[in-house]
Amino acid sequence: MSEETTSVHYINYLALDKVLDSQNLLSGDGKEAAHEEMLFIIIHQTYELWFKQILHEIGSTMDLFKADKINESNVGVIVRRMDRVNKIMTTLIGQLDILETMTSLDFLDFRDHLSPASGFQSHQFRKIEVMLGLKIKKRHQFGGCPYHSQFEGEKKEEILDLEATESLFSLVEKWLERIPFLNMEGFDFTQKYEGAVNQMLDKEISGIKAANLTDSDREIRIRMIEENKKYFERVLSESEHNKAIEEGETTLSYRATMSALLINLYRDQPVLHLPYQFLRSLVEFDHKIATWRFRHVQMVEKMLGQKIGTGGSSGQGYLKETVDKHKIFTDLANISTLMISRSYLPELPQNIKDTLGFNYTK
Ligand code: HEM
Repeated sequence: MSEETTSVHYINYLALDKVLDSQNLLSGDGKEAAHEEMLFIIIHQTYELWFKQILHEIGSTMDLFKADKINESNVGVIVRRMDRVNKIMTTLIGQLDILETMTSLDFLDFRDHLSPASGFQSHQFRKIEVMLGLKIKKRHQFGGCPYHSQFEGEKKEEILDLEATESLFSLVEKWLERIPFLNMEGFDFTQKYEGAVNQMLDKEISGIKAANLTDSDREIRIRMIEENKKYFERVLSESEHNKAIEEGETTLSYRATMSALLINLYRDQPVLHLPYQFLRSLVEFDHKIATWRFRHVQMVEKMLGQKIGTGGSSGQGYLKETVDKHKIFTDLANISTLMISRSYLPELPQNIKDTLGFNYTK
């Protein structure tokens, strides 16, 4: 073999001497260290490596979204990267099974040595949350201190800078607002959709009137549909939507919400298929992080019971609050409330179908 082909060695390329020499067990005090501490350290280090990869993927996705116009071929790249992130999340959830082979008693063999270190201080985990779009005002607080008080110097500055710049949520919102399909030539989506919803609800009311029901049953069911009608009217009114944003009930802008609805309803059109997969992958990511948070709480409950965390929080009480509260893409998940069946979906005019389709014929 030539010198050139042998110059890169597996051990050096992967910096294994450094990586494998980085498990510094604190227990032992001159005696043999606690057996389980090695697992505890390796699991956390593995998490941090995967967090690095997630940041790499989200960062590159955000860069692609920063362009005024997203190149069509990049939508496929973005979908593939988000799919990778979701697969990593599945592994991260699964890793808790390995850590749970350690018992509460085993943990106590070395827990005192860790204090006050805590997952609370994971800079990369905070970066993921902030890059996705989790804002300070939405966070569940404990002890009156903002989460970034855990960091100092460059690490703190980096987090504050990220807080002040675009997040994946805001970039996706802008992209949805730019999508030109809401008012296509000869097709006003919101108007057509409103008509279809009314048609669907009117049909439901006629069905109830014709059904063999008691008067009170009929009245209750019709009242429920009237309420449903009001719900749709509220959602379709831009001013009501803006009021809901001001009151913190929703976050995504009206135009972005309508575009997301259109993409979900007309996802069978070829040009909308990848945008649909992308929106779905964001909801999936949110759900996977929530699943991880939930599994982590369950593990904490088994390890600590009601003890407070080494980071000083109430432990499982604090962590439970974050499961739902720290979700980012809830508005995209809630689009399902607005879905109507294909049989009511307004037919797109042929010229628009041609624009949205792969039109190979000359
Ligand atoms: C024996 C295992 C573990 C226990 C008992 C435990 C316990 C806790 C507790 C009590 C907290 C709340 C903050 C505090 O007061 O310390 C916390 C937060 C956290 N832990 Fe763990 N943890 C364990 C394993 C892990 C692992 C393997 C990871 C992977 C990186 C992790 C990542 C985190 C993160 C990111 C937070 C902050 C969550 C947030 O603020 O939303 N933990 N942990």
